Amino acid sequence: MNKLDQIRAAESRLLLSTYDRNPLLFVGGAGVHIIDESGEKYLDLLSGIGVNALGYGHPVIEEAIVRQSRKLIHTSNLYFHEGQAELALRLTELTGLDRAFFSNSGTEAWEAALKLARAHAGILRSEGKQIGTKFLALEQSFHGRTFGSMATTYKAKYREPFAPVMPGVEFVRFNDIADLRAKFSSEVCAILLEAVQGEGGVRPLTQEFFAETRALTSSTGALLIADEIQSGMGRTGKWCAYEHYGVMPDITTLAKPLAGGIPMGAVLCTEEVSRAFHPGQHGTTFGGGPLACAVAIAVIDHIENENLLDHVAQVGDYFQQQLRSLAARHSAIVDVRGKGLMVAAELDSAALAKLTAAEMLKRHILINCTSDTVLRFLPPFILQRAHVDTAIAALDEIFTENAAAHTAAPSVGGKSHV
Ligand SMILES: Cc1ncc(COP(=O)(O)O)c(C=O)c1O
Repeated sequence: MNKLDQIRAAESRLLLSTYDRNPLLFVGGAGVHIIDESGEKYLDLLSGIGVNALGYGHPVIEEAIVRQSRKLIHTSNLYFHEGQAELALRLTELTGLDRAFFSNSGTEAWEAALKLARAHAGILRSEGKQIGTKFLALEQSFHGRTFGSMATTYKAKYREPFAPVMPGVEFVRFNDIADLRAKFSSEVCAILLEAVQGEGGVRPLTQEFFAETRALTSSTGALLIADEIQSGMGRTGKWCAYEHYGVMPDITTLAKPLAGGIPMGAVLCTEEVSRAFHPGQHGTTFGGGPLACAVAIAVIDHIENENLLDHVAQVGDYFQQQLRSLAARHSAIVDVRGKGLMVAAELDSAALAKLTAAEMLKRHILINCTSDTVLRFLPPFILQRAHVDTAIAALDEIFTENAAAHTAAPSVGGKSHV
């Protein structure tokens, strides 16, 4: 039995069965490539689901880990250390918000955001305002898998096995202003959204819809909460995807690339919202530890020093252009969308999307398929045009090879704005 098979057999006996892993054993990485046990390199266009923004083996991350781990790894939040205030200053500057709380993951940051919103509404009620406890979330949203996050996540398969979930959540049809207006009232304490939905298929909000969420919430004192866990920290070519719209939320959440692969999340909010938390109301043992803070600061410095936001925007535009030319040659691609290096090509069949991801893997290129028919690309920010060309050539080959089989298959959905 080879090493991969041994590990697979051991995992199947010892781990809870939560993942359907690809049969690959990765042991290292360099730049945009991840390397398997036999030394084979894979072009990683998924970057650990949007985490490894600086790729693999980046000297800035290695140096920060080594430096900080020699000094201090953990303190708990009972004491001060050097990192939290410095990181909070950087994140408040780049999000335009005022205060931060640090967690270990995306879902924990989102839980903190939900708690802030409920506690803030409680304060408003105590001050005589009429405001309820209901959350409006969007259809196709994904906010995580802990109980609060799960209740605000749209797909029933994530919620139903664990019923009853947290009550008080209603879903609004994506980008549907009439539905939003119909469901909004003074019962709502917050509207929850992703400026560009990630797991939901890399779907950007329309300007009109996003602006309307801000107008409605501002009219009652309810909060607008933007989940930037996947789209934030530069992924779309701006620090936060909401900047593309000129709409400021009251709360935002960050995670994934925040500390370059060291687990970390953050919730950021306005001074007004921060009134909701007092000592003892929320906390974490590990969140905002010295190691994660030091690495996050190093990642932010590097993104700024290397002007990576501009690079992400440029290579992302090139990626979308190349996908559009591919779409002109292959009718199986029905839409190309995204912002920066959060890119998607929607296909006209779930079977073809699954096959394409598998064929890309055979060609040593990692991508993933989300929302059944959507090929999603979340590459490291250091991606170059040549890597895009490699991916496009591979996709071209796969679509050409499968064109005959594909034209024979019934088509679902027409071609939209490619
Ligand atoms: C938009 C969004 N919110 C929340 C989460 C949950 O983050 P985590 O998996 O770190 O808990 C994710 C994860 O994919 C996400 O994409």
